[in-house]
Amino acid sequence: MKAQINGINLAFSDEGQGQPIVFLHAFPLNRSMWNPQIEGLKSQFRIITIDLRGHGESEAPMWRYSLGQFAEDIKGLLEHLGISKAAFVGLSMGGYILFTLYRKYPSLFNALVLANTRATADTPEAKVTRFSMAQIAYKRGSSTIADLMLPKLLGQTSLDHRQDLVKQLRQMITANQISGIVGDLMAMEERPDSTPLLRNLKVPTLVIVGDEDLASPPEEVQGMAELIPGASFTIIPKAGHVSNLEQPELFNQSIKEFLGNKINNKEFNHFQDLSNQWWNAEGK
Ligand code: MLT
Repeated sequence: MKAQINGINLAFSDEGQGQPIVFLHAFPLNRSMWNPQIEGLKSQFRIITIDLRGHGESEAPMWRYSLGQFAEDIKGLLEHLGISKAAFVGLSMGGYILFTLYRKYPSLFNALVLANTRATADTPEAKVTRFSMAQIAYKRGSSTIADLMLPKLLGQTSLDHRQDLVKQLRQMITANQISGIVGDLMAMEERPDSTPLLRNLKVPTLVIVGDEDLASPPEEVQGMAELIPGASFTIIPKAGHVSNLEQPELFNQSIKEFLGNKINNKEFNHFQDLSNQWWNAEGK
């Protein structure tokens, strides 16, 4: 499906019924990375997956890429769908976007899943790497970006045994336009440190990481989880950075258990009250 949001066509899927869960993909992939979650969860939940601007079947304008712009696109699409509250799952760059979306629109959230992501901003060295990767994308194209990214996206177990995943990720990366790839790099390079936000997340949160993740190492992700009040933390074995694709059953099980426990219970209602109070106090 497509919708005209903030001046561009955004592609999305909307399947199943029930509590909505919105899934935000990683760099430089697209919404098809969430196909195992659609299949595994749509009998219980309404699953919305979005091709962020610059990815998959969405348009890839030459400019206007920032985490704030991605957040506005998501807000616009949810308004289009008549959704005022949802659970959100963001993997890596998807997680960076969720920090921004939460800062802008906390009342949209009734649960948060941060997968294989980090709260810290880019170091000066990482910023230099973003710039060189953008130059490589312009000069050598998306297949060179795929060569660089695949060993970071997949864990060693998948690299050794899952050529199907290597192929699937390569296809997702090479299908992107260069404007989208470079747009992501600029957006991520500019992102602020979200560590101070962690203690102020007033929403039930689950943090997931793969035990073979080199891009967001398990110890760092665990440290992030420890700063979020009441957060649950899960390590998925034999999974790297795209743990949802590498171990879909375990990933889906963690989400089902988390949302099953949180959505209808007292803790959740308590968080909702806190979140509403904060929202009202801010005069939003
Ligand atoms: C991602 O998977 O989205 C990227 O690893 C994020 C990043 O490059 O910081």
